[in-house]
Amino acid sequence: MTDTIISGETTYPTHPAAEKPRVRGDAISGDRYWCKDFADREWDSMWTKIWHVGGRVAQLEEAGDFVVHNFRHESVILVKQKNGAIRAFFNVCMHRGNQLISVEEGGVNAFTCPYHGWKWGLDGELEWVQDPEDFPQGNPCGKLRLKELACDTWGGFIFWSFNPEPTPLLEYLDPIPTLLGNRDLENYTRVVWRTLRVNTNWKFASDNFNEAYHIPAVHPQFMPMIDDHYSTTVFEMYPTGHNRMIEKLQPSSRTDQKDQVMPLWAEVLSAWGIDPEDYQGKAQEGRIALQQARRKLAAERGCHYFDKLTDDELTDQFHHTCFPNLTLTGTPEGLHVFRTEPDPEDPNWSTFDYWYLVPQTQGAKEVATLYGMRPYQAAEHETDSFDDYQTSIDQGDFLTQDLSLAETQQRGLRSMAFQDCYLADQESRVRRFHEVLNDYLEGRR
Ligand code: FES
Ligand SMILES: [Fe+2]
Repeated sequence: MTDTIISGETTYPTHPAAEKPRVRGDAISGDRYWCKDFADREWDSMWTKIWHVGGRVAQLEEAGDFVVHNFRHESVILVKQKNGAIRAFFNVCMHRGNQLISVEEGGVNAFTCPYHGWKWGLDGELEWVQDPEDFPQGNPCGKLRLKELACDTWGGFIFWSFNPEPTPLLEYLDPIPTLLGNRDLENYTRVVWRTLRVNTNWKFASDNFNEAYHIPAVHPQFMPMIDDHYSTTVFEMYPTGHNRMIEKLQPSSRTDQKDQVMPLWAEVLSAWGIDPEDYQGKAQEGRIALQQARRKLAAERGCHYFDKLTDDELTDQFHHTCFPNLTLTGTPEGLHVFRTEPDPEDPNWSTFDYWYLVPQTQGAKEVATLYGMRPYQAAEHETDSFDDYQTSIDQGDFLTQDLSLAETQQRGLRSMAFQDCYLADQESRVRRFHEVLNDYLEGRR
C-alpha cells in the first residue's frame, strides 16, 4: 500500500503562525466525556471565558430585531441597536429575575417583562415601571440596567462572551480571520440551519473534526475526489488553540486507484468542461485542470467570488477547528459550520448545529446543499433529535456518518476499559485540543 503514496512536501502555503504538531502528551481519559464534575469545571473555567457564536448578523435587520442564544442554564439576548450596533444582554429581568424572552427570535421596540410589565430599552436601560413612586430606595428607572455581555462580529457571525474582559475577538480568533479573509463571509447566506440533539458529549465534534484519519472507514464515498492521506494534507496548529487542515481535491493517495478517474471525480471534472477520459491513468492531475477551468469559466458561470481565491483555494477542502466548539470547513462553493454545545445537565448529551453558508452565484436562483437544492435565502431553523433526523433523510451523508459514530463512541468512552487514546501523528490536533482545554481548566489560559 505505501508505495502508492505520493512522497515529498506539499506545496500549499503554510501560515507563519503555524506550530509544528507538538503536544505535551496529556491523557484523554474517558471521564472527560461523561463526568458531571468535569462538565462543571468546563463551565467554570472555559465556557465562561471564551467567545460563543450566537448567530448571523443577517438575522438582525432592523433596530429591535433580536435572537436568543440559550447556553447551558443561561440565556442571552443579542439585539440590534438604533445605531446599527449589536449588543448582548442576559435574558433576565432585574426586578425579580423573570426571563424576558421565551422565543428564539423576533423584533421589539422594548423588552417588556411578562411578570410585572417593566419595560427595558434596546440599550438595556429601564424605561418604565408600574408605580415608580412606591420604591423607598428610589425610582428604578434610570438606575437599573439589564446585565450586559461582551459582543462583537466577524465574518457575518455574532459572537458574545460571558467574560467581562475577553481577549479582543480578532485576537482570539487569530489567524482564522486572515485565513478566510478572501471569502467575504459576511456576505454569505445561511441556507441550512439545523440543530440536532445527539446522545454524545459536545467534545465528540472537536475530536472528530480535528482528524481526517476516520475518512476511509466512515466516509469511503469521498475517496474518488478528496485526498485524505496525511502525506498530501496540510496540518497546522496555532498558538491560540485553533487548527487548520487542508485536503487536496483529487483522488485519495491512499489507494492504488488514485490514478483512475472514478465516477464522482468524473462528474466534478465534466461539470467544468473537462473530459474525464483525458485524465484516466493520471487522475490527480485533474486537480490542476479543474483550477484552470474554474478560473477561466468563473465569470460566465457567475462565480465572481472565485476572483479573490488562490488557485489552490479553487479546489481544495479547507478545515478550521476553532477552539473550543466551532468548525469552519468547506470548498470554494460554501462553508459548513459545525457548532456543538453541552446539554445543560447531562454531559452524555449535546446539541449539534449544522449551518451551510454560501456566496451568491450571479444569476442562480438555487444552490446545492446536503438536503438538495435550496433558494438563496436565509433558512428557517430546523430542530430534531438525531434519531428522528436519521430516519427522515436520505442515508449516506457525511453528517449522519459522523454522528452515528458519536453515539457509539460515547458508549465506549463510558467503559472502565478506556484510559487514554493511542493516537497517530496525523491525529495530533485531537490531543492538542484537550491540552488547550486543560490550559483553561488549570488556569494557564
Ligand atoms: S420580574 Fe420582571 S417585571 Fe417583575
Ligand atoms: Fe467525518
